[in-house]
Formats: sequence, C-alpha cells, structure tokens
Amino acid sequence: MSRGTATDLVYLIAIVGFILALKGLSSPRRARIGNLAGAAGMLLAVAWTFSLPGVYAHEHNLLLMIIAIVAGVAIGIPAARLVKMTAMPQMVAIFNGVGGGAAALVSITEFLAIGGKSIAVYKIFEVLFGVLVGSVSFAGSAIAFAKLQELMTGRPITYPAQQPVNALVGAGILAIAIATLVTASTPLLVALLVLSLVLGVIFVLPIGGADVPVLISLLNSFTGLAVAASGFTLNSDLLIVAGTLVGASGMLLTRMMSQAMGRSLPNILFSAFGSVVTASGGESLGDRSVRSGTSDDIGVLLAYARKVAIVPGYGLAVAQAQHTARELAEALAARGVEVYYAIHPVAGRMPGHMNVLLAEANVPYDQLLEMDEANPQMATTDVALVVGANDVVNPAAKTTPGSPIYGMPIINADQAGNVVFLKRSMRPGFAGIDNELLYDPKTTLLFGDAKDSLTKLVAAVGSA
Ligand code: TAP
Repeated sequence: MSRGTATDLVYLIAIVGFILALKGLSSPRRARIGNLAGAAGMLLAVAWTFSLPGVYAHEHNLLLMIIAIVAGVAIGIPAARLVKMTAMPQMVAIFNGVGGGAAALVSITEFLAIGGKSIAVYKIFEVLFGVLVGSVSFAGSAIAFAKLQELMTGRPITYPAQQPVNALVGAGILAIAIATLVTASTPLLVALLVLSLVLGVIFVLPIGGADVPVLISLLNSFTGLAVAASGFTLNSDLLIVAGTLVGASGMLLTRMMSQAMGRSLPNILFSAFGSVVTASGGESLGDRSVRSGTSDDIGVLLAYARKVAIVPGYGLAVAQAQHTARELAEALAARGVEVYYAIHPVAGRMPGHMNVLLAEANVPYDQLLEMDEANPQMATTDVALVVGANDVVNPAAKTTPGSPIYGMPIINADQAGNVVFLKRSMRPGFAGIDNELLYDPKTTLLFGDAKDSLTKLVAAVGSA
C-alpha cells in the first residue's frame, strides 16, 4: 500500500471516530465513550501526520509545532480538569475561539506561502472565507468569554447608530473581499482580517449574557466552517470533513436550543433580549401572597406521596445540589415512592446542563425523563419538586401571548397534584418574568439555597 493510500485510510478511521463521537454525545449513557472515540480519532490523525516526512522538511516549523503542542497540553488539561460545571460555556467559548483564530491563521499562512498574482481565484476565495469566518469566531468568542466570565457586563450592549455601524463594517468587508479576489493583495487581506475581528466584536456586544450559550454554539459552527475552508486550502480531506461535522452539528445545536427556548435565532441574535428585564428584575404581579412551608411539612408531603417528579433548573447548578437531590430521591425511593427527574432541554444555561450534573451525581439514567416523556406523567404525579427552576415550568409560556417565553414548551409541573418550589427569593429566572405558578393555591415555597433546602428535606423525609 502506498503511503498516500495509507494516509487516506488512517484519516478515514479518524473521521469514523469523529462521527461515532457525535453519535455517542447525543445520549448521557454513551457520552463518555463517544468523547473517547473522538479523542482517539484525533490522536490517531495527529500521530499519523507526525509520521509523514513533510512535517520534518523544516526544522524550524517542527520546533514551533512542538512548542504549540506542549503549551496547549499544559493549558488545556488543567483548565478542563479544574473548570466548574457552571463555567463550561465560557470554557467552550475560549476553546472554540482559538480554533477559529487558528483556522484564520492557517488560511493567511497558505496565502503567503502560495503568494503573488499566480494564486488561483478559487484559492483566494477559500482563504477569504477562512479568514473572515475564523476571525469573527475568534473575536466573538473572546467577547462571549469575557461576558460569561464577568470580565465585562453580561448585559446586551447597545449604542446609537448600531445598525448603520454594523452595515458599514459589513459593506467594508464585502468591498475589501472583492478587491482582494481581483488583486491578491496581502495588505488588503490584512485589512479584511482587522475588519473581521471588529465584526466579531460588534456582532456579539448586543447579545445578552444568558443568550450567549446559543451564540457560542453558533460561533462553534462558524469555527467548523472556517476549519473546512482551511481544509480546502490545504487539500486536507480530514480537515474538510472534521470542519463540516463541527459546522453542521453546531448549526443543529443552535437550532435546537432556540427552538427549545421558543425563540427564533434572529430574535436571539438581534433583539438585545434581557437588556431591560435583567435590570428591572422583571414585571411584578403586585402584592399577591404566596404560601411558604417548612422543610418538615414538605418532608411529610414528599414521604407520603406515591409519585414525585424532581424538576431541576439553573439554581440546582448554582447551588451544586445535584448530589443532595439524588440523596433525597434515594430516601424517597427507600420508602416506596416512585421518583423521576423531569428534564427540560434548556434548563440551566447550556445544552445538556442538567443531564451532565445529574449523571455526575450518579443518578440512574432510567430516572432521567426528557420533557416529552415526563409531561404525560405529570397529571398522575403527586408532587412536582421544582429545584432552582423557574422559566421551564412557567405556564405563561402556554397562556400569555406577548410573554418573552410564549411558545416555549415547558415541563407541565402545574398539572401535578402539588407543586413545591425550592428557591431563595421571589426573584424571577433568566427571562425576567414573574411565574404565576408560584401563586397557585397548590404551590408551596421553601425559601433558601437549593442544597440547604434539599439537605433539610432529606432529614425531614427520614423522620417523617
Ligand atoms: P431560571 O428560569 O433562570 O430560574 C432559575 C431559578 O433558580 C431562579 O428562580 C432562582 O431564584 C433560582 N436559584 C438561583 N440560585 C439558586 C440557589 N442557589 N438555590 C436555589 N434556587 C436558586 O432557570 P431554568 O428554569 O433552568 O430556565 C433556564 C432559562 O435559561 C430559560 O429561560 C432558558 O431559555 C434560558 N437559557 C437556557 C440555555 C440552555 S441551553 N440551557 C441557554 C441560554 C438561556 P432565586 O434567585 O429566587 O433563588
């Protein structure tokens, strides 16, 4: 077998690893093995590439590659090990950003290497695409990271003449891209790079802190496309396929997240959602009274129920209450209570947030019910225990046209016999709107940090 055929074969195996990774990552049960399949594919591809003689043609390049790999490993491994689960979105943002930046740099170096007027127009097109999309992804991800890491305000940043400024930058990029196609000029390519970075920044500034996870998924998709473009430039099938997989899956994830939030992608990207509601703390339903209970009362309610649904949300993640939630479920199951977890697709702040947390706490997978499986059970559920969730059980999504969440599918906790909310205050959730269910006569509130409240409930169930 020739070296070329062997290389194609090895890269094909790596590609199969990437596809198996995507398949595995679509379910919590297989996510770990999927992740390993992707990592093994990547290791194989990198190791084989280093066995090719071309890599050793320039000693200087080899040294630079080794320095880059050592630096990447030294930063990447501790960062991935130490990151808190609630900080995952910004971690993904920064990793994604450097991927986009790398794709843009590869395109530029190829342009410089081929150089001069002899470069074919289609090659320039590939380079322009890689530079534009990779730079937007790099700069956009850096701002998304800064917002989520609270290095800058997480609120949408709007300013006068925002749209005309955006249009001007867009028109500038288009004009420079056409001029570069015609002239193959390096200074023009550099100008395109700078304007693309500016576009990345101004594209992300008006997007609100909690919409940023959707944006990150979109930028992730952009990075994939930029990598695919650099694959065309380098004639690398591996990069083309890997980039396209990232591009397509990122786009699908973006669509699924916006659908699960009941909002269109343009609405998320261009409506500066959250700029008002976050500041005001949401609309008020006036001085209406709510019923708050003690942990002992609620412990009795839970202990003598037949069927209990735990509905986790963002507050469970903030309080790191996943282990205590499982302890409560175990205490109830030991008394013969049927317990399941009702998981909303956008509960928390990132896709799969609740699945990951609960899997980490060793909750059995068969107790994790997706929204479509959980909702038919709600009418026969005695208690819906809503742990740090709010928007994902807010009936306004079904009943109040004009509400920011109208149209979002919700967990029908309102259909359960009793509803118990564990939260710290009457503050609203991410959408910034009040929740009618909090005032329902069948609802009881237990105020406090979710982990503390769950700990008290475990004790109360034990002595009930
Ligand atoms: P939210 O509606 O944001 O509600 C979270 C609740 O947790 C709040 O009511 C808050 O009330 C409570 N809370 C916060 N810290 C707590 C703690 N330490 N202990 C107890 N309670 C605590 O969360 P959700 O129901 O999970 O909905 C998610 C929202 O985020 C949706 O609107 C969704 O569209 C949006 N979103 C989701 C994603 C993804 S992909 N998951 C991405 C972007 C946006 P207190 O402050 O009173 O405690």
